[in-house]
Amino acid sequence: MKKQITLLPGDGIGPEIMESAKEVLQVIAEEFNHDFIFHEHAIGGNAVDAYGEPLPEETLKAAEEGDAILLGAVGGPKWENHPVYQRPEQGLLKIRKSLGLFANLRPIKLIPALIHASPLKEEIVAASDIVIIRELTGGLYFGKPSERRNNGNSVVDTLSYERYEMERIIEKGFETAMSRRKHLTSVDKANVLESSRMWREIVEEKAKNYPEVTVEHVLVDAAAMKLITNPASFDTIVTENLFGDILSDEASVITGSLGMLPSASVREDGLGLYEPIHGSAPDIAGKGIANPLGMILSASFMLRDSFGLEVEANAMEQAVNEALEQGYHTADLDLKDGTLVSTKEMTDVVIGSLSARSISDDICYMYV
Ligand code: NAD
Ligand code: IPM
Ligand code: MN
Repeated sequence: MKKQITLLPGDGIGPEIMESAKEVLQVIAEEFNHDFIFHEHAIGGNAVDAYGEPLPEETLKAAEEGDAILLGAVGGPKWENHPVYQRPEQGLLKIRKSLGLFANLRPIKLIPALIHASPLKEEIVAASDIVIIRELTGGLYFGKPSERRNNGNSVVDTLSYERYEMERIIEKGFETAMSRRKHLTSVDKANVLESSRMWREIVEEKAKNYPEVTVEHVLVDAAAMKLITNPASFDTIVTENLFGDILSDEASVITGSLGMLPSASVREDGLGLYEPIHGSAPDIAGKGIANPLGMILSASFMLRDSFGLEVEANAMEQAVNEALEQGYHTADLDLKDGTLVSTKEMTDVVIGSLSARSISDDICYMYV
């Protein structure tokens, strides 16, 4: 299979973890006989430095033309005081909006080898297997006006949604629940916000088309509490943009580290942008110690969902599991008895597991 992959490493640890994902993908390409062609482009702070804007036209064009997009992370203190249009995060928001990537899928599944890595008790995290479906191109992030007024002494941000924007993400929530344990938690703030009351109405309307799905409505503040006291009670969560952003970072605690979580941002025709949910981690950038696994798992997410390469995606995920089972971990994972490794070493261990698997598969083939 021949695929054109747009790589957007970004800032901070972005390029460090992107290198890991690229190396692992190259091994997959060799072992499974695929041709992955990488096209690297600028986004975020480095694009502001080089082009004066966080999402140069050529980056957007390449992203639209390729078969899938892999993104590291954007942002950092260097650009914090830039005007809004030159903030790295604007590049990320613009690529999501321009490409219409309205559905952000954030799976949170405990890896057994990491059961002791979470600060939460083992019996609480044990059976966690959640997917958060986050609306990605509307709400407070994009509503206008968003500005300071009255000499900087008053401010307005706008939370606005069109009905179709709520409908399509809520449908995605139901479809996802149907492919899983058929339990959908819709998270809102309907006791206060009009937008949430409209959201809840639409969830109720759509529920009629999915009689097999059990639907529950949970207010966002209570959902935040329940996520860490009883994560096993969730299956599929569907929610608007800002709530989904906050709840997914919180949910990462279940897996032991923010550095573990991948995500996919997709639209109806299947084009996908795959990125870890974490940021550019300026506090550890350049040290070679970032956890590359959220990025590597984003690449396997891409193989499965954009390219239909199920076997290859499974092989990558198995290799990650094996590396962790052998006790290897980066500094963000609090594992007492393991072996602390760098980004590069972790990547090499994952590649080692991948190669060992294919050698043993070859041996199996020889005997069939
Ligand atoms: P962050 O996610 O970058 O970091 C939060 C904490 O988690 C830090 O202590 C960091 O060291 C740690 N961490 C994150 N990823 C890690 C990894 N892979 N391995 C080890 N440790 C990891 O969030 P922040 O510090 O609030 O934000 C930093 C910058 O990143 C900001 O400019 C923010 O806007 C941006 N950001 C970008 C994205 C994105 O590109 N998708 C997401 C979130 C934040
Ligand atoms: C994320 C990030 C982004 C968001 C920022 C960097 C704009 O936090 O992808 O979760 O809030 O969506
Ligand atoms: Mn976030």
